[in-house]
Amino acid sequence: MLQPKLKSKVRCTDLDIGEVTRVVLDPLSHEISHIVVSMNGSGERQVAMGHVQDVTDDAVQLRTRSADILSLPPFKREDYVTTHEVEISHLEDNIHVTPGEVLVPLPDLEKDVKRRTFFMNFTHVIGFLIGLPIAYPILRFLMQPMYADFDNQWLKVGNVSKIKQEDVGVQFKYKKAVKEVYMPVYEIEKNVWILRATPELLERVYQGKDSEFRDARGKAIWTNKKEVPYIAFSGKCPHLGCGFKWRQHKTLGQVFLCPCHLSIYDAGGKVLDGPAPRSLDALPIKVSAGGEVEIIDMEFKAGTKSQIRIV
Ligand code: FES
Repeated sequence: MLQPKLKSKVRCTDLDIGEVTRVVLDPLSHEISHIVVSMNGSGERQVAMGHVQDVTDDAVQLRTRSADILSLPPFKREDYVTTHEVEISHLEDNIHVTPGEVLVPLPDLEKDVKRRTFFMNFTHVIGFLIGLPIAYPILRFLMQPMYADFDNQWLKVGNVSKIKQEDVGVQFKYKKAVKEVYMPVYEIEKNVWILRATPELLERVYQGKDSEFRDARGKAIWTNKKEVPYIAFSGKCPHLGCGFKWRQHKTLGQVFLCPCHLSIYDAGGKVLDGPAPRSLDALPIKVSAGGEVEIIDMEFKAGTKSQIRIV
């Protein structure tokens, strides 16, 4: 029997059903195992050579009724590769059709990619679940510093005897031990501004209410009492974190002045001028009977209107 050719008419026992658009080659026998028939507008069907009764130069005669061919499942191109896609040019020696129109079945291993991917992912999930109890304590240990609570230790910064005048900012320097993740502990020098406030300034700062400090979980850390005349401000400007000074301003009198972008604050920390988005950051402060000052060192995000604690 001749080999079916592309574009040959395909005839069933009752009528012509279309034409051959591709042929499928058996890679083992090197014989055509199927023809693909374009069904005159009803899609393509893959018809086994067993249905073929005769092949002439321009037609393929089937021994089947058209309804039986139509009832075959639609041809699935994705289950095949062409001779262009894989190195099987030797197969074309055996047949006489246009290269590229000859299909060979995709190996089952390739065809089952979705199922294999599922099993691969499934294996990964199982591996992850088995490894989780081992990895969890290690991960928790490594990530612990990221979720550690803020250090609310009291730090001694000096004695109030250093303050000679009321409502005047005095800088106190102190050292703080810093422990960053897995680095060894080291010390940094920091500063805080402290004032002995007159009752008028206290009233402006506290507006009749004590000032409470709470941690991220809402637990009270400390309360600055409105009648205690000492006020402490973080040494970092809330604009972008520069250090500021207590300076004489030609029209505003004595103020806190930040040289970086010229933010100006009054003795109570309120912004008088410049780009600062909020008042100076007041800190928890306590003063012992002997005048020793302790503060809790807190740092807040720069550039934000509200206070967001970062240290
Ligand atoms: S950092 Fe102080 S004004 Fe910009």
